[in-house]
Amino acid sequence: MFDVAKIRQDFPVLKRMMEDKPLIYFDNAATTFKPQAVIDAVTNYYVNESVNIHRGDYALSHDVSNHFDNVRKQVADFIGASQKEIVFTSGASEALNIVANGYGMKYLKEGDVILTTEAEHASNILPWFNVAKKTGAIVEYIPMDSEGRLTIEDVQSVLHNRVKVIVIAHVSNVLGYVNPMKEISQLAHEIGAIVVCDGAQSVAHMPIDVKNLDVDFFGFSAHKMCGPTGVGVLYGKYELLEMSDPLLYGGGSNARFNTCGDVLLKHSPDKYESGTRNIEGVLGFGAAIEYLDSIGMEKIAEIERELHQYLMSKLKELDNLIIYNPEADTAITAFNVKGIFAQDVAAYLSTFGIACRAGNHCAKILLEVLGTNETLRCSLYFYNTKEEIDTFVDVLKDITLEKTIDMYL
Ligand SMILES: Cc1ncc(COP(=O)(O)O)c(C=O)c1O
Repeated sequence: MFDVAKIRQDFPVLKRMMEDKPLIYFDNAATTFKPQAVIDAVTNYYVNESVNIHRGDYALSHDVSNHFDNVRKQVADFIGASQKEIVFTSGASEALNIVANGYGMKYLKEGDVILTTEAEHASNILPWFNVAKKTGAIVEYIPMDSEGRLTIEDVQSVLHNRVKVIVIAHVSNVLGYVNPMKEISQLAHEIGAIVVCDGAQSVAHMPIDVKNLDVDFFGFSAHKMCGPTGVGVLYGKYELLEMSDPLLYGGGSNARFNTCGDVLLKHSPDKYESGTRNIEGVLGFGAAIEYLDSIGMEKIAEIERELHQYLMSKLKELDNLIIYNPEADTAITAFNVKGIFAQDVAAYLSTFGIACRAGNHCAKILLEVLGTNETLRCSLYFYNTKEEIDTFVDVLKDITLEKTIDMYL
């Protein structure tokens, strides 16, 4: 049985107060809190292990190497991949950059098309702008409806045989819509294109099976799923990882090299993991996956759905709000308070201990589509409660422009 009060005990930061008010954290799309088990795993590395991996011919190094390699297996199982398809990176941004640089730069040529959406996070689209600039490829956009949602018919309407790569987020970090990746992959593969999927906002919130989605690459970050910062994953189909180039060259990734500059790289994933990895981060990530698995991803999705429905039912009663995605598929709500600057609303919420993001959320083109320069974003996770939502709604109900001005006096 899921007991939120018990779950909250696992997260030390949830015990902290902001002045005299309990912290209410609604910025989970930016990063999530870490349970004690993750903190312990990171600390345990420094206290009891502290050695490098895959290099030392002594027992401690072997032990830590095994522990590290087991996390690769955990990640593979978590998303339905095989271990050699899991590359550890510093985060989703690095994972997505590896694909753009290692596949896009190598295989795209003038006139080829990179198809994407106007809702992408900077980390998913800027690497491809760079590829387009350097190769002469062209970036085209899939149209979205006025609420920023994308349908399979929209994708179909702009597909043609010069499209070589489709770059798309599984879940939009501003609007919380789940894009139909399985169907998109099928359409892409029919014309010989590959699909690069930004999974940063999906993998923490629902069960993921990359083989079923049939995407070619999938990137995500540990810190958005209860894990440490500085760790992420690039999943790629093995043959694509083998034909692409790494972003970094150095120790650990090569089998041999000589004075002529001939380098023989190892196979994936080693060829992408030059240099000493974020060992403690990966070990902490293993603890995060174990923690999420102990609750169950289906259960997490169900809890978030329930919290989201509760939030929406309350927010819809307020007439001072504009909600941009009332039908979001995940627990992300983009909104504004009529007549009050989003950042001022966020600062006002903060005086009640509530952490809620305001701005463009790194998806700068999307806000042009929605017709606003910034929004507030409330993003929930399984450790949030209906009581927290009640407090949030009460503050929004009473907010006025005068109160937000008074706050600065
Ligand atoms: C949709 C999406 N993609 C990519 C990223 C980048 O993740 P990171 O900063 O962990 O590399 C984020 C982070 O907010 C995101 O929301």
